Amino acid sequence: MPIVSAEKFVKAARENGYAVGGFNTNNLEWTQAILRAAEAKKAPVLIQTSMGAAKYMGGYRVARNLIANLVEAMNITVPVAIHLDHGHYEDALEAIEVGYTSIMFDGSHLPIEENLEKAREVVALAHSKGISVEAEVGTIGGEEDGIIGKGELAPIEDAKEMVATGVDFLAAGIGNIHGPYPENWEGLDLDHLKKLTEALPGVPIVLHGGSGIPDEQIKEAIKLGVAKVNVNTEGQIAFSDATRKFAAEYNANAAEYDKKKLFDPRKFLAPGIKAVQDAIEERIDVFGSENKA
Ligand code: 13P
Repeated sequence: MPIVSAEKFVKAARENGYAVGGFNTNNLEWTQAILRAAEAKKAPVLIQTSMGAAKYMGGYRVARNLIANLVEAMNITVPVAIHLDHGHYEDALEAIEVGYTSIMFDGSHLPIEENLEKAREVVALAHSKGISVEAEVGTIGGEEDGIIGKGELAPIEDAKEMVATGVDFLAAGIGNIHGPYPENWEGLDLDHLKKLTEALPGVPIVLHGGSGIPDEQIKEAIKLGVAKVNVNTEGQIAFSDATRKFAAEYNANAAEYDKKKLFDPRKFLAPGIKAVQDAIEERIDVFGSENKA
């Protein structure tokens, strides 16, 4: 199946009480792991690059083409959207230009009027090309590629105004933060989520910082209207844990592993990449999007 925009399958998730994963990629192998997981689970997915990850991969055009070409080469049959995660205005325009099929315009660092104005412009351009749009009000706490916020509850009035710009799904803070959750984290504010979704009937809400939230809280949030959950750190930790384990094993059996040429990156990275795939499949189960392609 060719790459698609995300609004239809995110809306279907919202209407039917499950969530799709927005999984961040970092490189070729990572993208393959996400695609294998999505195909194995028959789940629609968004493969997303942060601005930093796209730069790391060689720029938006390289990232977009890498993902699109893998979808084709791997005969992927599930819907896949290529999504920009937390894009500033100029980056959103560039990603649209090179063929991303879904864009998150993140103007949460701007005054709300400017955030709304720029969102309107991004929506007009993206929708004219059949590209879906996510935007954010308030800030999501934690650190994401240098975007640091204190963590807050999205103001309901701002959320309503942002939805009126025509965005397809909305990222709104409900106590969630990017990266690992601190020991003293108080959990998601599900009452605030309820207030948001009552004010915005039918609007799919995006839960950022999906790594490390207890599954029960994620499931409750999905029942209340979350239809896309972003996951980055969890895949990175799975990769790093498995790679460290393999490296330790390698050190303990160096002569034998050298003889088997396990220093070849295709072999050396394989356990880590398999761990990414497993972690994503497990998230898809929790989000309820298995067999929803
Ligand atoms: P985590 O890294 O906490 O999973 O957050 C990912 C995210 O929200 C990307 O926008």
